[in-house]
Amino acid sequence: MDSLVLVGFSCSGKTTLGRNMARRLRMRFIDSDRYIEDMTGRSIPEIFREDGEAAFRAIERDAIAEIAAERRQVVSTGGGAFVDPVNRDALRNGNLVVHLQVRPETVIDRLRNSRSGRPRPLLESPNPLARVMELMEARKEAYTAAHVTIGVDGRSRYELVGELTRRFLAWQRQRRAAATAASSTSR
Ligand code: S3P
Repeated sequence: MDSLVLVGFSCSGKTTLGRNMARRLRMRFIDSDRYIEDMTGRSIPEIFREDGEAAFRAIERDAIAEIAAERRQVVSTGGGAFVDPVNRDALRNGNLVVHLQVRPETVIDRLRNSRSGRPRPLLESPNPLARVMELMEARKEAYTAAHVTIGVDGRSRYELVGELTRRFLAWQRQRRAAATAASSTSR
């Protein structure tokens, strides 16, 4: 509740922007993949390798339910988390969900230049661009359940933090006004 939730494809900038937003809004930052790694004591690629995707999704669902039960935090989610309808409902409830939309070519550039080189098991393919395009197409519909979509291509982190801050503060003001109006009519 009262949280900012970032969803979108791998390499859309969810974790970096999430960290920046948490600092800006003075809220706690939670990354669902890190949460899963802490919860299980294993890395995401290890979970995929040892137990497969279905097992990862079950763990991810538990993690999202726990994360969604907390208040006032900035949450960045793994690229597939918002595809699950149960996760979608949990994350949308009382939070502002922003979809960071990224072009497939940008994903490929970022995967190649990623300094951390964090492996993305689902994107390992002889033709990564085709794989990214195929997965994006399959997830397009799910991402439309976000409250807001922001394109990230060619925009600086500074610009994006500014836009996300404006959007979140406006949403918070609206929510407070609606809560005040509801309590005055019930009195
Ligand atoms: C996944 C994206 C990854 C991670 C896992 C599955 C996906 O997170 O949750 O490898 O299904 O797209 P990022 O979005 O941070 O890469």
